[in-house]
Amino acid sequence: MSWRAEAERLRQASGYVSGISVREASRIAGRRRFVNLQSNENLFVPKRVMEALVRRALKDLDLRLYPKEVIEDLISLIAEREGLPAENVLLGHGADQLIELILRAFGKDRTLLIHSPTYSYYPVAGIGVLKRVVEVEFEDNERLNLRAIQRENPDLVFICSPNNPTGGVVPEEDLKELLSFYRGLVVVDETYAQIAGITYRDLIKSHDNVIVLRTFSKAFAMASFRIGYAMAGRTIMEALSRIQSPFPVTSLSAKVAYLALKREAYFRRIWKKAIETRSWFEGRLSSKVRRTRSSTYFLTISTSRSSEEVFRALLKRGYITRIIKPFRGFENPIRLNMAPKSLIRDLPDAINGLV
Ligand SMILES: Cc1ncc(COP(=O)(O)O)c(C=O)c1O
Repeated sequence: MSWRAEAERLRQASGYVSGISVREASRIAGRRRFVNLQSNENLFVPKRVMEALVRRALKDLDLRLYPKEVIEDLISLIAEREGLPAENVLLGHGADQLIELILRAFGKDRTLLIHSPTYSYYPVAGIGVLKRVVEVEFEDNERLNLRAIQRENPDLVFICSPNNPTGGVVPEEDLKELLSFYRGLVVVDETYAQIAGITYRDLIKSHDNVIVLRTFSKAFAMASFRIGYAMAGRTIMEALSRIQSPFPVTSLSAKVAYLALKREAYFRRIWKKAIETRSWFEGRLSSKVRRTRSSTYFLTISTSRSSEEVFRALLKRGYITRIIKPFRGFENPIRLNMAPKSLIRDLPDAINGLV
């Protein structure tokens, strides 16, 4: 296929939509200040805390050089915290780049199975690589559809736990059952796992077909730094590290991640607060507002009004949320993440007024 035909084919594909900019929100809603609840960013960490970490990081770095020692130090620290040898950890330019790397390595002309609704970048990352993406429904919000996996027998299964956009955690027994019969590759995306406090990382010790993904974007409020990591057994790690780009993360990202991990106790308090805020928020929502069973700091709601109408009404009140595709029981879904209570105090009532 010529590049022109390829470009035409890609132009027709449905790409990843990353929400709207504050500038665009201002234009639509005619106001300047918003609380941005659309991208699951961690607003519980004050901006000045991250700025202080950057200043501290810069003291030790020579930004003219490629990142080397700083990467080794970070990998050692991650490995220590995860209770794994350093060979089982691979850094990437955000979890997104690791998803691409995994698909490049193991997805060529293969079939990927995902449970809907889930992170919408998976199929997009597979464009030009995968032969097919099979979408099946979760059973009861967060349970794996094991019968469908058996029936479809895909080459790869991506599981997001806690799942974006529902916040549901896949039960351990489901994963264990899956691994008892399935020999394909299982990728568990744990982008939100630290906050929920539930991880399946130890499965990589007993199963050589499991990769667990993590990121600093959410738990450590480092979305702009673009740094994540994969954990897996030796065979997978050696394969992935052969084809990873030479320097996928910057020294600054690696150093800030290192300093943040060293201060994990502080971030743990933040995670607790984020979860408490979700409970408070849910407690104030009317029973008429349908919501997903979330174990983390975001959730999806649905009311009798259309997603577009709710999105616009909340935008007028100064809240940017995310419209997502309807799924079973959620005809008009809107996803929103929590933020410090002082910023979202009147949000539950604003939503209750839209049932
Ligand atoms: C489920 C999931 N995986 C991966 C990512 C991307 O993470 P990163 O910022 O590390 O690329 C996101 C971001 O929203 C996500 O929700």
